[in-house]
Amino acid sequence: MWGICSRTVVGMAKSGGCVRPRHLVRPVSATRVAGRYLSHQRGLPCLPVPPLQQTCERYITALEPIVDAEELMHTKKLLQEFQKPGGLGERLQKGLQKRACNTDNWLSEWWVQLAYLDYRMPVVVHSSPGLVLPRMDFNDKLGQIRFAARLTAGVLDFKTMIDNETLPVEYMGGKPLCMNQYYEVLSSCRIPGLKRDSIVNHAKSSPPPKHITVAHNFQFFQLDVYNSDGTPLTEDQICDQLERICSASQEGNVEPVGILTTQHRDSWGKAYLELIKDKTNKESVTAIQKSIFTLCLDGSVPQVTNEMYRSRAAVQMLHGGGSQWNSGNRWFDKTLQFIIGEDGTCGANYEHAPAEGPPIVALIDHVVEYTRKPETARSPSASLPMPPKLHFNITPEIQTNIEEAKRSMDTLAQDLDMKVIVFGHFGKNVPKAHKMSPDAFIQVALQLAFYRMHQRCCATYESASLRMYRLGRTDTIRSASSASASFVKAFDDPSKQNTEKVDLMEKAVKAHRSYTNMAISGQAIDRHLLGLKMQAIEEKLSVPAIFKDSAYTKALHYRLSTSQVPSKTDCVMCFGPVVPDGYGVCYNPMNDHINFALSSFSSCKETSAAHLAQAVEDALMDMRAVLQETPRAKL
Ligand code: COA
Repeated sequence: MWGICSRTVVGMAKSGGCVRPRHLVRPVSATRVAGRYLSHQRGLPCLPVPPLQQTCERYITALEPIVDAEELMHTKKLLQEFQKPGGLGERLQKGLQKRACNTDNWLSEWWVQLAYLDYRMPVVVHSSPGLVLPRMDFNDKLGQIRFAARLTAGVLDFKTMIDNETLPVEYMGGKPLCMNQYYEVLSSCRIPGLKRDSIVNHAKSSPPPKHITVAHNFQFFQLDVYNSDGTPLTEDQICDQLERICSASQEGNVEPVGILTTQHRDSWGKAYLELIKDKTNKESVTAIQKSIFTLCLDGSVPQVTNEMYRSRAAVQMLHGGGSQWNSGNRWFDKTLQFIIGEDGTCGANYEHAPAEGPPIVALIDHVVEYTRKPETARSPSASLPMPPKLHFNITPEIQTNIEEAKRSMDTLAQDLDMKVIVFGHFGKNVPKAHKMSPDAFIQVALQLAFYRMHQRCCATYESASLRMYRLGRTDTIRSASSASASFVKAFDDPSKQNTEKVDLMEKAVKAHRSYTNMAISGQAIDRHLLGLKMQAIEEKLSVPAIFKDSAYTKALHYRLSTSQVPSKTDCVMCFGPVVPDGYGVCYNPMNDHINFALSSFSSCKETSAAHLAQAVEDALMDMRAVLQETPRAKL
């Protein structure tokens, strides 16, 4: 995970109250000009380890709306035992603090392993998000190719900023953010293992990769996107090369090897070993893994009404629509795949292990802006060699694996229920006008929507960025709070006055924003609890009873798994539910509207993405109505 290190900085660095060996500061890549990136990273604080007692108290508070009184009593007792002086909690806390002193980030390596590389469900739907861009202005093969060339040139333009370390540092609440994720998303790939996967990042190899992979008609091509003098190909050159690739792959009657990457990770781990036994196959796979990114030129898909368009596009981005459509026109292990249809559909899919949505969206915002620049006149250019096709020899065993992958992909595609809506009545403007955090307002509306549908509150996950800390990833904002529970229970109660409803709404919104502040400053409970559990495992101690408790299981059963991914472009990210009876909800609040992508599994009779979408719209409208009708809220 540390990559190929060209230079090891020796000495000691002072950070976050710990003196740590400097070699633990991330090494500079062989391809990077040393300097800006590293000095920025070094200046970031280390992720703190929250106080033990604080986490235990906050854990109880978080359980209140989702477990019953008896369970809560039991958990309180377990926590008392866990925290007593000289007890297991204290020992694990000390171990964690020591780890924090000896690593760049006590959590990040554990987190990538546990949340991603050890997770064995298919990355498709279960882990890798999709991103739906607005429909572009083309409707045929030529338009698809031209746009793909432009998009590729836009990504290379962004890559120049990564390579030169000229990416502007991002800020949140005035604080600089860790920029590491930007260096992990290009030229990298997940590799399936028998029990655990890994990630390779070839951006750090010398020389770094100069090609992308193009997928068309389930066939893969290696397209060099740099000239021998190191300059990127022009848009016209890329366009010519893509035309040649498309002409050379018109025949669609080939085995969709890429569909193997949609499998359960254990199955794919086995199938992978079988696949790469053959030398040609191994070379082809390596070329895909090393490539800067994958460009998927999709085959045509069924046309739908304008109303249905975004939902269908989300499915195309998330899983490709099944084996008869585009699921085989992918390499889902690839960190970044841009997907372009013939009908103006455009978006991406990304493998989650190396990065969260916001850096991916920032890259895509740049690319979209680039594609909107006026076209320059085509300039004559020297002819380039034909991009080589990446061949695969299909043995009967590989054939069997492909058939199995097709079957399970089709079952998954049929099961996923996806609804994308544009809530057009208002956006961040209305909550802001009422002096409320828009994100908290939306989260409280989600609580109300879920409560109205299911007559209960549920454990809810919202991602909070930990990028204020070096190598920071995420923690959990637990959106179901006692305050939100009081609000949702009162809201439809005819005996309650509007003033009381508004008062409860304000309290719920404030509670959410205060949890958010706690989470982004490294003081939330979930990663700390996970750290304590991992510390017990590392020290070969028995796992503490608090983690075997039914309340802990309930706390981690996120029927609502949510995330805000904002962007400049009018797009929306989408992902699947994380539990069989749950929902995945991703939203992009713009100033005057909100894009939502909501998902559920059709096999669960209790849930429906479309019903939740309607319930969220109703909740947002009803919350605004009560604010508008109640004079106090206008103060
Ligand atoms: N009154 C008026 N305006 C307010 C307000 C209030 N009480 N509270 C907030 N606002 C404003 C903010 O100033 C901000 O203004 P801007 O639009 O000019 O920037 C805007 O409302 C949005 O703030 P808010 O809705 O509170 O959310 P946020 O931008 O702080 O985001 C999180 C909250 C949790 C989404 C963010 O902290 C985060 O962690 N994001 C990363 C999530 C992630 O990684 N997701 C990907 C997972 S794959």
